[in-house]
Amino acid sequence: MSVDPKATSQTQARYQRMAPLYDRMEVLAERRYRSWRKHLWSLVRGPKLLEVGVGTGKNVPYYPKGVEVTAIELTPGMLSRARKRAEELGVAIDMRLGDVQNLEFPDGTFDEIVETFVFCSVPDPLLGLGELARVVKPGGRVFMLEHVRSENPIAGALMDALNPAVVRTTGVNINRRTVENVDRSTLRVEQVEDLGMGGIYKLIVARRES
Ligand SMILES: C[S@@+](CC[C@H](N)C(=O)[O-])C[C@H]1O[C@@H](n2cnc3c(N)ncnc32)[C@H](O)[C@@H]1O
Repeated sequence: MSVDPKATSQTQARYQRMAPLYDRMEVLAERRYRSWRKHLWSLVRGPKLLEVGVGTGKNVPYYPKGVEVTAIELTPGMLSRARKRAEELGVAIDMRLGDVQNLEFPDGTFDEIVETFVFCSVPDPLLGLGELARVVKPGGRVFMLEHVRSENPIAGALMDALNPAVVRTTGVNINRRTVENVDRSTLRVEQVEDLGMGGIYKLIVARRES
């Protein structure tokens, strides 16, 4: 498996276009996400933490005290907004451009990894999950907040039908089977919590075997 440069640069271009509008587009959804982010971050211990797909930095206000965060992001326009947000909040973070499908870190670098609403956009999610499994320490946990394909057959089929158009316009896949994808990786799924919207939104906690 190797990174598909065309698909990855298309994803990046879509987010680059959306970056100036992203926070405004997400205002309503963010009202719902806020309590989910808080819940996820209440589980995180670090201390050496990687956030992948930091976006415009919406998780930065929730980082626990005493953690050392490295954050990567595919899209320059999103990353510059995250940097601004971190500066405004006075939070020191090592933020860099990067692709979760091909991380620059040595094996077992981080105690824990967090990602929120990223694997719906990563062109090759299995490649990305493989990288998370590689750079987290043995026994370390990966926390994910994701929307996934509905298990309701009608809603699921509708998501499949709409997905190509949604990907073309936003870069987001609405029919990813992310819990199953984590299961297919070398990470072990420890916890899956249904957060609402008929089981479409999930908190997933996975662990690298010791
Ligand atoms: C829907 S946004 C979510 C941003 C942020 N995590 C949040 O919760 O608001 C998805 C983000 O994932 C980034 N992304 C997509 N593919 C990526 C990849 N291969 N590596 C790193 N980041 C990626 C996009 O550039 C975008 O900023």
